[in-house]
Amino acid sequence: MAAKASPARALALKALITWSRDPESHLEQHLKGLPDPKDLDLAYTICRGVLKEKTFLQKVVGRYLARKGKNLPLPVELILLLSFYQRLFLEKIPNYAVVFDAVELCKEKKPVFSNLVNAVLRNLDRDLKSGFDPQKEPMTLEERYSHPKELIDLIKEETKDEATTEQILKWDNAKPKAFLRKRNGSCEECLDVKAAVQSDDFKSGKIYFMQLWSQEVANAAPVKDGATVLDLCAAPGGKSLALLDRAKIKLTACDFSETRLAQLKENFARLGYENAPNITIKQLDARKASQAFPPESFDLVLLDAPCSSLGTIQRNPELRWRFKKEQLAEYAALQREILTSAKELVAPQGYLLYSVCSFAEAEREAADLLRQDKTWTLVKEKLTYPGEQDSFDGGYYSLWQKN
Ligand SMILES: C[S@@+](CC[C@H](N)C(=O)[O-])C[C@H]1O[C@@H](n2cnc3c(N)ncnc32)[C@H](O)[C@@H]1O
Repeated sequence: MAAKASPARALALKALITWSRDPESHLEQHLKGLPDPKDLDLAYTICRGVLKEKTFLQKVVGRYLARKGKNLPLPVELILLLSFYQRLFLEKIPNYAVVFDAVELCKEKKPVFSNLVNAVLRNLDRDLKSGFDPQKEPMTLEERYSHPKELIDLIKEETKDEATTEQILKWDNAKPKAFLRKRNGSCEECLDVKAAVQSDDFKSGKIYFMQLWSQEVANAAPVKDGATVLDLCAAPGGKSLALLDRAKIKLTACDFSETRLAQLKENFARLGYENAPNITIKQLDARKASQAFPPESFDLVLLDAPCSSLGTIQRNPELRWRFKKEQLAEYAALQREILTSAKELVAPQGYLLYSVCSFAEAEREAADLLRQDKTWTLVKEKLTYPGEQDSFDGGYYSLWQKN
């Protein structure tokens, strides 16, 4: 029988080819169909790694292609990138497995390039054995941290500081940590996500996953027993759940997306809130919120607005490749429109909490509508860059009280 590449690397290549042809798609949706979870894990690690280190890997691969021209067919380029990623970043994977699978994959996709792939990988191995360290090669920020120039320029513009810019780029490429929140509001790092998901505590809703920044936003909301709370962009429900645990509130949780509302319902049910009398779940376009509820009918409105998510690139490596600066203005317009509607629903002496998981100034500007309006008093406000606070994503929130 003919030799074949391992299922993990074959799936990784297939997913990377599909994603490269449609970078707006989600990588995860292409990573399916392997019976052995270990294979799926490896495919996932390789794909995420290649997306995180893409420009860096291209630069190192390019070093070996200099004399042969760099215009390789997409599958061949990706075979080299995923093989280089394994050799340079995954310590436990033996060289022979990487080379064997790379050549087998190439034979399947573009056989005429198999000798080239074989030669490049053997040359890399030889160089690594004689002390070559690609991290020590001179590189631009774009190459070292694999972020598009447009995004690096934006980060520089936002931070106005080279050291902070580099810190953010570095943080975006670091390994993300997961955190578990308990029902009493305490929180701990989760070292084994798979084990946590299979644990009785998770299944019975005693713990749930929530990033530190999201927890900080949820903790900033003033809630007390009996308060009426509207969460306008609530799905998949993390902050709503934290609020429900903090006080006996009457919650209305809304979102535009039916798919995300289904996730919210699943999360609520796992924590024991299925059919809870104090919770209403509603599909709603938050831009029309003021038409959906009586004016001034909530003690707290949480507006965790749709945004560019620039503060979460560490956990979503594809985001950087989709970044387009003009989208910030589009998000800013949407955020302003939602906030304009949302503020009508806050009761006198009630609160509005505005938040985004982005540090871009354009996405903080919606809050200026309240800053310029004497009806509102700023209670507190926070901006944090990714990684500025240990293990926190980047984000912004401001809490306002209606006079
Ligand atoms: C940052 S996420 C919310 C995260 C959520 N608050 C949590 O803590 O789990 C933003 C949400 O806004 C929703 N969204 C986008 N446009 C919307 C709109 N016009 N009206 C209501 N929700 C919208 C998205 O579906 C998404 O679920």
